[in-house]
Amino acid sequence: MEIIVAPTPKHVGEFAAGRIAKVLDAKPNAVLGVATGSSPVPTYEALERMAQQGLDFSQASAFALDEYVGLPEGHPQSYAEVIRRDVTERLGMNPERVHVPRGHADDIPAACEEYERAIATAGGVDIQLLGIGANGHIGFNEPSSSLAGRTRVKTLTPKTRSDNARFFDGDLSLVPTHCITQGIGTILDARIALLVATGEDKASAVQAMVEGPAGAFCPATALQWHRRAIIVVDEAAASQLTQREYYDFVRDNRPDWQR
Ligand code: F6R
Repeated sequence: MEIIVAPTPKHVGEFAAGRIAKVLDAKPNAVLGVATGSSPVPTYEALERMAQQGLDFSQASAFALDEYVGLPEGHPQSYAEVIRRDVTERLGMNPERVHVPRGHADDIPAACEEYERAIATAGGVDIQLLGIGANGHIGFNEPSSSLAGRTRVKTLTPKTRSDNARFFDGDLSLVPTHCITQGIGTILDARIALLVATGEDKASAVQAMVEGPAGAFCPATALQWHRRAIIVVDEAAASQLTQREYYDFVRDNRPDWQR
């Protein structure tokens, strides 16, 4: 794991955007894995500034990590709409190349299989942007999820539903109970995994992900097995890391060829 501690959420976003831009520079038709929620917002803002300065997303594709099940198509808090507003439109992507699991489908298992096929047909994800839940979930793979799972339906924990009630006017009864999420196995297939986390309430999950024993109780620990995982956190989210000096030393002494 490469652990980067940046001073503020804005710096986290700028660092993460830089890594995505590097992939896109090398491969204009790169396949980007995109996340929703609050954590990636500074990254999307930084990417939008880069797009205004000429970074071209028009040939790139994107696959979202997850979607609620049961919200009507076009619901403003469905991840399809969030991704359309925050990613597709702001970065100037081709909407036909931006994919979100079909949480409103009549046949949900078929929609999950179709999603896995679509990722494979696109050639796999080049760089997957991730957030982390306060309970250690990635995507919506809640604690106890299979570490080898593929895209499927999951039941959200009460903690995740109450954390996300802020997007539904604070009304827990409006937050769906189920979702479609890429599995941990799907996420681990991405060529680069880029996780961003900010704020004190992520500190214990970040510590467990980076330094804890790997296991399904903290699904993000699966990234310890990823061949190229980059963890970008702000000071608050880094506050419980015990080997901080070492991570900073590695960051500051990277050989030129590795930058
Ligand atoms: C979102 C997703 C989730 C979030 C996580 C953190 O697509 O897959 O894993 O990244 O719940 O959410 P925020 O960033 O809102 O704290």
